[in-house]
Order: sequence, then structure tokens, then C-alpha cells
Amino acid sequence: MRLSKCHNISDLRTLAQRRLPAPMFHYIDGGADDEWSLHNNTAAFDKYELMPNVLVDVDRIDLKTKLLGTEIALPFFLSPTGMSRLFHHDKELAVARAADKFGTAYALSTLGTTRLEDIADAIDVPKIFQLYIMKDRGLTREFVARCKAAGYTALCLTADTPVAGNRERDLRTGMTMPPKFGLKGLLNFAMHPHWSLSYLRHPNFDLANVAHRTDALSGGSMGLIDYVNSQFDRTVSWKDVEWLVGEWGGPFIIKGLQSVPDALKARDVGATALMISNHGGRQLESAPAPIDCVKDIRAAVGNDLELIVDGGIRRGNHIVKALNAGADACSIGRAYLYGLAAGGQAGVERALTILKTETERTMALMGCPSINDIKG
Ligand SMILES: Cc1cc2nc3c(=O)[nH]c(=O)nc-3n(C[C@H](O)[C@H](O)[C@H](O)COP(=O)(O)O)c2cc1C
Repeated sequence: MRLSKCHNISDLRTLAQRRLPAPMFHYIDGGADDEWSLHNNTAAFDKYELMPNVLVDVDRIDLKTKLLGTEIALPFFLSPTGMSRLFHHDKELAVARAADKFGTAYALSTLGTTRLEDIADAIDVPKIFQLYIMKDRGLTREFVARCKAAGYTALCLTADTPVAGNRERDLRTGMTMPPKFGLKGLLNFAMHPHWSLSYLRHPNFDLANVAHRTDALSGGSMGLIDYVNSQFDRTVSWKDVEWLVGEWGGPFIIKGLQSVPDALKARDVGATALMISNHGGRQLESAPAPIDCVKDIRAAVGNDLELIVDGGIRRGNHIVKALNAGADACSIGRAYLYGLAAGGQAGVERALTILKTETERTMALMGCPSINDIKG
């Protein structure tokens, strides 16, 4: 199968599975525990219907929307995902450049394999840096200063990760970062020569934004993943968020909350936007689907906060349903990662084209020429 034969996100997933060794594919594809939340994130969209309004002039469909005080060309953007080098040697730059080409925002993860300054130099669209408040508060302060210097639009604090979720597929496949060619894995790597050759030619697997701290803290003796796991801080609370919002002083997103009381606290500490998210079903198993949380949160916060639905989006009609339920925008994770694994930047562009085309068609069939028409 080639990229041009991928007609939907599920086709891209199939191609990604063919291209990637099993540990990398399942690292993208998997979720926590029994993966109920992972599956429910997408399945929950089936409960929502879209009412058509016929005989409306839909000659021109306008997908533009406002996010974080700036305009983006699509009502969805690209969520932060760690370690893109595992999936393609062009890593985060391939994803950011695709976002730039489509005029939508890109969010870089703390655990990315590209320096935040390199992303800032490469793109003009809104840039979001996702961070965790880690035990090493010096690193958090350093990120704030670097993001200000590099001209980032917003910071995004991920709040659903006091500890790592239980991803059993990773235990079974022996997923490590950087990847190791163990005896068990050798056959798997041999069966994916394209990926394996690129692994040998571009061995740049550093967590580029934190690598320098592992040496600073451990005299170089600590592995990257050990460093990151040791840095998740279970004591982080709303007081720390308030501190961080003040340090940053610009648009601030909190990612990974789902309840009305948490949304109200986010408003009180000065957040600009919420990413209603359960980390793509990778953290708390049995957390509700983000789409199911939008209506109540919108009713509680009114227009005080921008709401972004993050999780389970595989179709343009999912995006339209989220907007119809009260969201301002959506964001996608696996949908573009499957594209990245399937074909680098061209694969990410394929994913964005698919979702853009599906969204446009859904809007035309609904009789909604603009995003505001969907919101009702
Ligand atoms: C491979 C992978 C890595 C991820 N890494 C991060 C990360 O470093 N930080 C973060 O806040 N969220 C991370 N996420 C979660 C995404 O930002 C997003 O919430 C999730 O993918 C949305 O669900 P979807 O994949 O169904 O679209 C990751 C998700 C995946 C699939």
C-alpha cells in the first residue's frame, strides 16, 4: 500500500503498522491497562448525530477559526507527542512543517527529539510548547525562558501524568528509548529494513530538550527514560500551576483535565484554554471520552476559556461533532503519527488532507459554510 492509496486514517494506520517494527507501532497505537478508554474515545463519537440544514449556499466552506488569540486555517491542530524519532528520521520537524503548510498550530512535547529552538526557526504558525512541572524546577524555569526567547505562542501544561500509565503493549514488545536490538527484536527489525536502515543512518534519538540535564544531574550515568520517569512529580498541585501561569505571562493551556470542578480551578488560576483530554487513553484507564465532557464544561465556564477536544479523532465528522457540542477546536495525536510513520512529512500531510477534506464535506452536507455555523 502507498500513501496515495490511503483514503482514511485507518488506512494510514495499516501502512504505519507495515513500516514500523512492532515496539514502535504499539508504542503509538496502545493505551493503558485494558484499553477501554482508548477505544471509547473514538466509539463515543457514534452517540452524536449531525442535523443537516438543506438548501444553504455552501459553495465556499471556510475552516478558519481562532485559537489562543490568533487565527488558524483549520479547526484542529497537532497535539504534543514524545519521541517522534522512533517513527521517522525527520521526526518533529516533519510534523511541524506539515502543520505550517496547512496553516495550523503545532505543539512540541517536552519529550520531543528536536530542540524547541529548531522548531521555532522552521515554522510561522502558532507554536505551543508542552511541558510537565518536573522535580527539577530549574528545568521548568529554563523552558519558560527558552520558549520566551524563541517566540512560542503558548505553553501547555500536561496535568494527567503524576505517574506513567500502565502500557502493557510496551512491556510485551520490549519498547525502549533509544531502541535496542535485543535478540528477540532482531527478527522484527530485519523484517522492517527501511526503518532499520534509517535507524543506522540517523542515530539521533536524544530527548533533545532535556538531554543536557541528565548529565547535569547524574554525571552522565542516567539513561534518558530513567531520567524522565524519575522526574514525574506527584506533589504538583494547582499552586504550582498558578506559579507557572505567572512566570509565563502569556496564553496558557492546561491539558488532561475532564471534570467541571477542575475546569473551574483552571479558570481561577488564569488558564486561557483547556485541552479536554485523557492522554489518548494512555493514562487513567476508564477516564471518560473527551467528547462526552464538553457540554458540561462549556455550560460551567461559558466563554471564559477556549475548549479543545483531544482524543479519539479519526474522522472529519468527529471534529464537527466536537465543535457542535461546544468546543472551539480539536487536536489530534495518533492520526498524524500514523501518517508520520507511513511516510514522514508527506504522510503527515496526507493525514491532514484526509481530515480537512472530510471536515469540509461534512460541513457542506450539514449546510454549515463556516465554523461559527457549526457552533450554532
Ligand atoms: C505516541 C504518543 C506519545 C505521546 N506523548 C505525549 C507527550 O509527550 N505529552 C503529552 O502531553 N501528551 C502526549 N501524548 C498524548 C497526545 O498529546 C494526545 O493527548 C493524544 O494522542 C490524543 O489522542 P488521539 O491519539 O486519539 O488523537 C502522546 C500520545 C501518543 C500516541
